[in-house]
Amino acid sequence: MAENKTPNDSDAAFGVPHHVAIIMDGNGRWASQRGLPRAEGHRRGVEALRRTVRAAGEIGVKVLTIFSFSSENWSRPRQEILDLMGLLRRFIRHDLAELHASGVRVKIVGEREGLETEIRRLLDEAEELTKDNPGLLLVVAFNYGSRDEIVRATRRIAEDIAAGRIKPEDINSAMIGQHLDTAGIEDPDLIIRTSGEQRLSNFLLWQAAYSEFVFVQVYWPEFDKAALESAIAEYHRRERRFGGLAARTGS
Ligand code: IPE
Ligand code: IPE
Ligand code: MG
Repeated sequence: MAENKTPNDSDAAFGVPHHVAIIMDGNGRWASQRGLPRAEGHRRGVEALRRTVRAAGEIGVKVLTIFSFSSENWSRPRQEILDLMGLLRRFIRHDLAELHASGVRVKIVGEREGLETEIRRLLDEAEELTKDNPGLLLVVAFNYGSRDEIVRATRRIAEDIAAGRIKPEDINSAMIGQHLDTAGIEDPDLIIRTSGEQRLSNFLLWQAAYSEFVFVQVYWPEFDKAALESAIAEYHRRERRFGGLAARTGS
């Protein structure tokens, strides 16, 4: 079912995972451990992000999704939110040209309504500038919450029904997938979360149906190419069955 984006193509099952998604967690704890302000952890987190985007491209990952700000992160102190927004602005302003030059295509997922005009403009610009690039697809989950995404998708489907464009029996999982922010992007094969926490925190709930999860102990600012390779090695030790039987016993 290609339209359902089940991550079972041969490259994903046996080689480099096609789509890796990362919950970049632990910036604050990395900083506190060193007696530094949380903002310094976030700043170093951006450096880890640069390293990881480069490494993913080198390894041959085709899609890299990063969780950069959740719809629940607005509940943090105002100053921390300002720091995070400042870093996002700086990341796009300083890194966009380089990402573009290296062929990266940027796509933003998450709710864009209600964001500051300047941030919206930068997000739009990042997508527009890189939209025809052939390289790594970098999906940035910003102001993203999976439940919010599913609610918005459901509303649009309900509007289509109310307007008579579709019937309730037309709804299937492919249609729901096409109404999510991630429409057209294969589901993640591997989801990595740093910092030792073992939860999704409202990230890609629908898309993670058959993803493999790797939880690593390092805090995000310490993440690097070796950590990514070791998570991918762990992924290779897994056996993905998608509800079927193991390859060696099934026939
Ligand atoms: C991840 O690090 C960055 C964001 C969530 C924006 P945290 O800020 O969550 O760091 P911890 O979990 O408090 O250590
Ligand atoms: C998830 O991390 C969100 C991002 C990495 C952007 P959080 O630090 O916000 O998650 P919880 O609060 O520990 O679940
Ligand atoms: Mg955290």
